[in-house]
Amino acid sequence: MVEQMQLASRQQAWLKHYPEGGRALSLGALRMLVDRLGIGPLRPPPHRGGDAARAIESRRLRELAAQQVNVPRVLGQGRRSLMLSDNGRSLNTCLREAASDQARDALVQRAVQAIAQAHAQGAYLGQPVPRNMTFDGSRIGFIDFEEDPLEVMTLTQAQARDWLMFGYGVARYYETRPQMLQQLISEAMVRQDAQVREAAHHATTRLQRLAGVARHLGRSARRLAQAIVVIHGASALGVLVVVGLMADYFSDGDLDVLRVLLG
Ligand SMILES: Nc1ncnc2c1ncn2[C@@H]1O[C@H](COP(=O)(O)OP(=O)(O)O)[C@@H](O)[C@H]1O
Ligand SMILES: [Mg+2]
Repeated sequence: MVEQMQLASRQQAWLKHYPEGGRALSLGALRMLVDRLGIGPLRPPPHRGGDAARAIESRRLRELAAQQVNVPRVLGQGRRSLMLSDNGRSLNTCLREAASDQARDALVQRAVQAIAQAHAQGAYLGQPVPRNMTFDGSRIGFIDFEEDPLEVMTLTQAQARDWLMFGYGVARYYETRPQMLQQLISEAMVRQDAQVREAAHHATTRLQRLAGVARHLGRSARRLAQAIVVIHGASALGVLVVVGLMADYFSDGDLDVLRVLLG
């Protein structure tokens, strides 16, 4: 739970609470599925609650700040809470309210540059979807670090995961112009470590196959398959396919995909 606060200094801040309780069982099942499908970058990290989640988020914020990534500062902490500085407006809101396609493209371009720059510093962002990104009018920022993907994958996989997450998160704004999204993302990805591109490519190839199967299953599976946005990298170096199915892997324990595939 996150609450917006105004400090006595008139500074805006956010109080984030970490309730107790995890989702060990459902995540175990999901991890098995992801392993069977060979899509390592989509392995769900452990979802801890309470003080353990707070400790991860505050450690990650320190690491990311040291890597020059624009993240909130920790203004204070309690046993199951952190007080964070305001990092700007939600990128999701900015994208939704963008006055034109051009304005939206410009924001997405800044966002992909921010991700690429973070990666160049050796950082990984975990869940860089627009609701976990901010824009303060000049800089893109990142929030929400209570899960650490590096607990269950390599840095290369974690950086590949960032692109899959981002692509999935912004795809809804590009339903009628997927080529433009493809272009914006591939411009940044061509400068990435080749291994990261390969990991993203491998995962999305697997997901594409899965989507093909889902298309032949029931109505909800077809809907999932239809939600797939394919971003086919124009570059000779890499192909990135972003798949709507990923929603189910990440939408906080929602196991629609498991239900579709297993019964
Ligand atoms: N430091 C911050 N600066 C700006 N907005 C924030 C900040 N922290 C949280 N928010 C807002 O609160 C929402 C939820 O915070 P988040 O850290 O993503 O928690 P959750 O784990 O509940 O997703 C974000 O999507 C964002 O709109
Ligand atoms: Mg969030």
